[in-house]
Amino acid sequence: MGLIQYCFSFLVVFHVVFNEPRGAYGTRFGGSISRGSGLLAGAPASAPAMTPSTATAPAPAPAPETQLTAGGVCATMVTRAGYKCQEFKVKTKDGYILALQRVNSAKGNVKTKQPAFLQHGLFMDGTSWFLDSPKQSLGFILADSGYDVWVGNTRGTRNSRGHDKFDANTNPLYWDFSWDEMAQYDLPAYINYVSRQTKKKINYIGHSQGTIMALASFSQGRKNKDQIIDKLKAAALLSPVAYLDHVGRVGISMANSFGGAWGGEIMAEFNLKEDHVADYIGGVCKSIPGLNCYDTVTAFTGPNCCLNASNFDKFIRNSPQSTSVKNGMHLSQTVTQGTFTKYNYGIGNFVKYGMLTPPVYPLTNIPKDLPIFMSYGDNDNLADPVDVQHLLRDMKQHPKNKLEVQRIKNYGHLDFIMATNANRIVFKPMIAFLKRQK
Ligand SMILES: *[C@@H]1O[C@H](CO)[C@@H](O)[C@H](O)[C@H]1NC(C)=O
Repeated sequence: MGLIQYCFSFLVVFHVVFNEPRGAYGTRFGGSISRGSGLLAGAPASAPAMTPSTATAPAPAPAPETQLTAGGVCATMVTRAGYKCQEFKVKTKDGYILALQRVNSAKGNVKTKQPAFLQHGLFMDGTSWFLDSPKQSLGFILADSGYDVWVGNTRGTRNSRGHDKFDANTNPLYWDFSWDEMAQYDLPAYINYVSRQTKKKINYIGHSQGTIMALASFSQGRKNKDQIIDKLKAAALLSPVAYLDHVGRVGISMANSFGGAWGGEIMAEFNLKEDHVADYIGGVCKSIPGLNCYDTVTAFTGPNCCLNASNFDKFIRNSPQSTSVKNGMHLSQTVTQGTFTKYNYGIGNFVKYGMLTPPVYPLTNIPKDLPIFMSYGDNDNLADPVDVQHLLRDMKQHPKNKLEVQRIKNYGHLDFIMATNANRIVFKPMIAFLKRQK
């Protein structure tokens, strides 16, 4: 799934296409929303000068930050479409405080519904599942199909920047994580919370980095006490990623230079709005002859067949979300090493793991009784078909009736969450699979 590459694409979009001035994203939670509402509202700065007759003018709109922190994903994406939505805070064992949303249709009794937990990909957050119309977006479609929908937001994204001890804005220790920790801590925190609230087994649905987290976690089987397998009913993996060594040439080039660009500063926020990140991306674009940076989204994700241009704007306003430099490093390692392992500390592996190389996530150990649905696309540059075949070889002992695999000819990486026809092509067969599991 090439998260790194993914993020870079957004960076380029922001800096090259929109040429956003520095500082526009500013505050802790403000990010894309403040920018987005500025665009949407036209030019609030040019409001007419006050005259006596403005005494009856409408009250000024609340500050964007207030809207975000008060409402988050619910207020900005969900309730206005007529769905019920609640926000929760969930704490991980290593002290991170994460946002979680619960979305339901107005129909039906929530007590009789099955829970579905949605985990977004890199540089995105819970808004990923609500970008198109209710008939096209998976979050709404699941709610309309009678699911009790829960939405995760991984550490470092705009509504999940809390921590017991570390301030994300000032303390580099906050950023000492990669997808290892998302799999080890974020996932169990969410699944245990939803399990306690609903007292039911959960359907897990992930996209991109959300599938890396799931596969890393599933490969640990039932052996540790935080395992989530026994709390799950089934899993659906859209754009499944474990191996990354066949990402396109752009991804490889970025992975090769990533360590050099950030070598000294692993514990830091990887924020696509910062200049040095933009310089890095710009450098990569220039180093590859023939790559037009305006087409970078396509170069990274692969050509997406079926996105709605006006909804793509919404997507750009909600992305890119921050992650850690260390997560970018880990993804780069996955690209260059061709293996699915924990973070490679080099010489530090011995101290960290008691061995010279980082432990492998053994995909052959994924419990055979877990029903899994997978969908991947021939045009996906991040979950490249060759890498997905590698993953499927590791899973070849998985019973046929517990594994359904879909290969979609013209889909790129983003089509799996945003294609206007994804409901017919991916979501309906996926939901039918989930409903067949006992
Ligand atoms: C694209 O999105 C716009 C705005 O959300 C919507 O009005 C339009 O119907 C969508 N087009 C398609 C083909 O779904």
